[in-house]
Formats: sequence, C-alpha cells, structure tokens
Amino acid sequence: MQTSLLGLLAPHISWGIMWEMAKLWMKGYKVIILDIPLLFETKIDRWTNPVTVVWVNPETQIQRLMSRDGCSEEQAQNRVNAQLALDWKRSEADIVINNSGSLDDTRLQFQDVLRKVSEPLTWKERLRSRDGLISVVVCTAVGVLLARKNLL
Ligand SMILES: *[C@@H]1O[C@H](CO)[C@@H](O)[C@H](O)[C@H]1NC(C)=O
Repeated sequence: MQTSLLGLLAPHISWGIMWEMAKLWMKGYKVIILDIPLLFETKIDRWTNPVTVVWVNPETQIQRLMSRDGCSEEQAQNRVNAQLALDWKRSEADIVINNSGSLDDTRLQFQDVLRKVSEPLTWKERLRSRDGLISVVVCTAVGVLLARKNLL
C-alpha cells in the first residue's frame, strides 16, 4: 500500500517541485531550499545538491512521533519502519543536522548550513551553475574577439 501510493504520487510531486524551482530560477534566486520528507524514496536527491539530512536518534524520533500524533509506540515504530532508515539517509547526506537536542540547537545548526550554502561558489561549482553558463559564454565571446584581433 505504502509503496504503490508513493509510486503514484512521486511523479506529481516532482513535476510540481520542478515547476516551482524553474519559476524561482528564472527570478534569479541563487539558493532554493526544498523540504522533502521522502527525498530519497522519491529519488529527487539526484537533482538536489547539497543534500541535507535532519537526523535524530531513534529513541527521540519515536518519542516525538508519539507526542505529536498521539499514537502508540507500536504505531510510531511502524511509521518509522515504513521509511528508509534515517541512519542510511545520514550516510548519504552532504550535510547533517543533528535534531536530537533542543529546538534552539537545531536552529543554530540550520543557520550554519544556510550560511554555508549561501557562500560564493568555488569555480568548479560555479561552472555547473547558471552563472557558470553565462561566464562560459562570455569567455567564449571574449576568446573569439581576441582571436580575431590577433588575426588582423
Ligand atoms: C546529537 O545531539 C545530541 C544532543 O545535543 C548529542 O547528545 C549527541 O551526541 C549528538 N549525536 C551525534 C551523532 O552527533
């Protein structure tokens, strides 16, 4: 049930997200944050970089699920089991936020991540981004101009 429902929803989720991202990209946004609980399950992680996993230790995860949704420990455990293991997701992440502590603690880590992803890109990253595309075009144009000047 869980898997087939996911399979049905996944294409719609990704097209909706793609469309939103395209609009933000055209408006010139440099950092777009996607908050996707089933990022790996829907395989959207192929298109995002860096991937940040908000990790919590299993005991805290069960406790928080129970108090948020008022479900039993068994129900909470089943919900957790239906998803890919958080520890596996953590191993796949580029950046990990440890959400086992207080809310303020998590907020501080998030601010750090935000600062990190907002930093100017290295030239390698820049090449893969839109700015990179523009500078490659400009460089080529300058190269062509220089080449013609040398020929004359
Ligand atoms: C995560 O944070 C908790 C609470 O601050 C800490 O006790 C724990 O060692 C941390 N775990 C990892 C893997 O960083």
